[in-house]
Amino acid sequence: MTTVIELDDDGAPGASRGASEDGTGRGGGEILCRDLVRIFATDGVEVQALQGLNLTVEPGEIVAVVGASGSGKSTLLTILSGLDTPTGGTATVAGTDLLAMGPKERVAYQRHTVGFVWQQTSRNLLPYLTARENVLLPLELAARSRRERGARNRRAGDLLDLLEVADVAGRRPHEMSGGQQQRVAIAVAMANSPRVLLADEPTGELDEATSVEVLEAMRGVNRETGVTTLVVTHDPAVSEHVARTVRIRDGRTSTETLRRTETDEHGRARHISEEFAVLDRVGRLQLPEDFMQSLDLRDRVRLALEEDHVGVWPDATTRATETASRDSGAPGCATPGPGREVEPEQPAGGHDPAGSDDAEGSER
Ligand SMILES: Nc1ncnc2c1ncn2[C@@H]1O[C@H](COP(=O)(O)OP(=O)(O)OP(=O)(O)O)[C@@H](O)[C@H]1O
Ligand SMILES: [Mg+2]
Repeated sequence: MTTVIELDDDGAPGASRGASEDGTGRGGGEILCRDLVRIFATDGVEVQALQGLNLTVEPGEIVAVVGASGSGKSTLLTILSGLDTPTGGTATVAGTDLLAMGPKERVAYQRHTVGFVWQQTSRNLLPYLTARENVLLPLELAARSRRERGARNRRAGDLLDLLEVADVAGRRPHEMSGGQQQRVAIAVAMANSPRVLLADEPTGELDEATSVEVLEAMRGVNRETGVTTLVVTHDPAVSEHVARTVRIRDGRTSTETLRRTETDEHGRARHISEEFAVLDRVGRLQLPEDFMQSLDLRDRVRLALEEDHVGVWPDATTRATETASRDSGAPGCATPGPGREVEPEQPAGGHDPAGSDDAEGSER
């Protein structure tokens, strides 16, 4: 699936990357989740919030995480922030194994390795402290000596400058706009120079224009400091402005959209957007829902290995049996399909579910 859209001059950044070979497999990864599982058990009912999630984020990347409500986005971020522990699998952030952390390491991890910004502006800032005091607080908590006060004050000032909220340094949260509060919250999260910045719906309570400002602030911080950034969002304005968007479906990474900018022969910038399915180490992938619906793919499908792609077709045998049993009124029973010697039915209209390389990008 390739989409090409015209881009204005300050279009989205981003180097081209291929989809991960196994959903995890590029390099070491600043964030590395493999087969991550989180099961919640409440009142005897089990909820599998993460069902074997794979994700690799390289150092310095900024990645948007999108997905329907309940798909597991916050569960993932809460684990990565060290506030929750997975039921199974592995999760490593900046070299720290999140399943092996003791209580002391957990505190150090949350203080120095990760910074986080939550959706609720009120959860990010202490209401009785000014913007500057909120930024100073994590610096004071992490300080080894009282003598470095001058350096801490300078750092707080620099961060408020970077986030363009120096003018509200002396105000308490209720004296700031929602966008200003979130930008101060990013400054707080960045106070101790974390290697990873995590944000769960940071623009969820903001209007569209303010969301763009906050997103730009995060991109600016990512660019200036190189902090690896993971932003959960429902907001297409966020996901369309980062080079990589990962979609979570039912507790697993399902597709990735990679965006890059190319200049055509007339010197015009084009924004290329390509969507990839994530394939895990044992060969599982999730077909996009619209593909499944348009070809009525369900229960089981036929696969055929072609020279340069894999074909996927609906199981015509099951459909025929269903139709026959409906027509005769007899209970349905799936008969075994024909063996390999039978050619799979070709999909109507030559639709190529895998997307082929020679397909021209479509204008969006
Ligand atoms: N502490 C918990 N106890 C029990 N179930 C939970 C808990 N936290 C999350 N869940 C369940 O896990 C699943 C994933 O929840 P999660 O909060 O990660 O979704 P989400 O993708 O962040 O959704 P949203 O977009 O609505 O914020 C949901 O079914 C949710 O009800
Ligand atoms: Mg959530």
